Amino acid sequence: MTSVIAAPAEDQAPSTAEAPPVRVTGLVSRFGDNIIHENLNLTANRGEVLGVVGGSGSGKSVLLNTIIGLKVPDGGTVKLFGQDMADASRKRWNVIERRWGVLFQQGALFSNLTVRENVSAPLHEHTRLPRREIDHLADLKIALVGLPARAGNLKPAELSGGMRKRAGLARALAMDPELLFLDEPTAGLDPISAAAFDTLIKDLSDSLDLTVFMITHDLDTLYEITDRIAVIADKHVVATGSAQELEKNDHPWIQEYFMGPRGRAAAGKATPQPAPQATPRTS
Ligand SMILES: Nc1ncnc2c1ncn2[C@@H]1O[C@H](COP(=O)(O)OP(=O)(O)O)[C@@H](O)[C@H]1O
Ligand SMILES: [Mg+2]
Repeated sequence: MTSVIAAPAEDQAPSTAEAPPVRVTGLVSRFGDNIIHENLNLTANRGEVLGVVGGSGSGKSVLLNTIIGLKVPDGGTVKLFGQDMADASRKRWNVIERRWGVLFQQGALFSNLTVRENVSAPLHEHTRLPRREIDHLADLKIALVGLPARAGNLKPAELSGGMRKRAGLARALAMDPELLFLDEPTAGLDPISAAAFDTLIKDLSDSLDLTVFMITHDLDTLYEITDRIAVIADKHVVATGSAQELEKNDHPWIQEYFMGPRGRAAAGKATPQPAPQATPRTS
């Protein structure tokens, strides 16, 4: 992707060019005595849509917060684009931070600002572009996520749930990131809006060559748009693979999740159809 707001060349570390956008190794996370992650390993490869699943409270959001530096790891390393974030100078942090965007679980748009002002906020923070240029870039992002132009003048409360998610996505994409983090983006949306949002993510990831790290519990999403899925259980990533590969994994949580009624319904709907199973499924 050609970025109009790329960091100056001297700030890019050439050694990181080939490194995966996200590599978490041996992560330990704790809140007091409560151990959330123990020896968690996870990689998001360039250009892939990685789904991250796990039971409620399994530590998915804590993992995201740790990767983006909102929580300091209690052990292990987080590397973004090859940079060990624990060793990064403030300046280096700022450079890496421009390369990712995030849509949090709660959306977190500023309710007193218009959509255009919300989408502009990262551009005001990270660039010195003139106001008119920033407004123009914000409008491009608003169009990119499929919102009508008039949405730019509306406040978040004036939007539907699906439109609010799109506005949050436009803000996450404001700085032309290479890496996009999404925390349960379709939770709370009706099935039609959720499917439309999934299609949008897939189209954007293809056309912008984005790497997408997406926490979701939406099985349709997992089957339709992810390249690989990482499963968090027992405080770490217990398996990684395609939905079809995970169906064959005998970890009890994975079996219950993928082979339960909802999992099988999603597998049946998914395109392309998974190869016929050697073992017949009981229904
Ligand atoms: N700020 C915090 N302080 C203490 N405990 C927390 C905090 N944030 C999350 N936790 C705990 O970490 C665990 C994992 O939470 P979370 O990552 O939000 O789960 P989920 O997989 O549903 O996203 C939960 O037990 C939660 O109570
Ligand atoms: Mg969560």
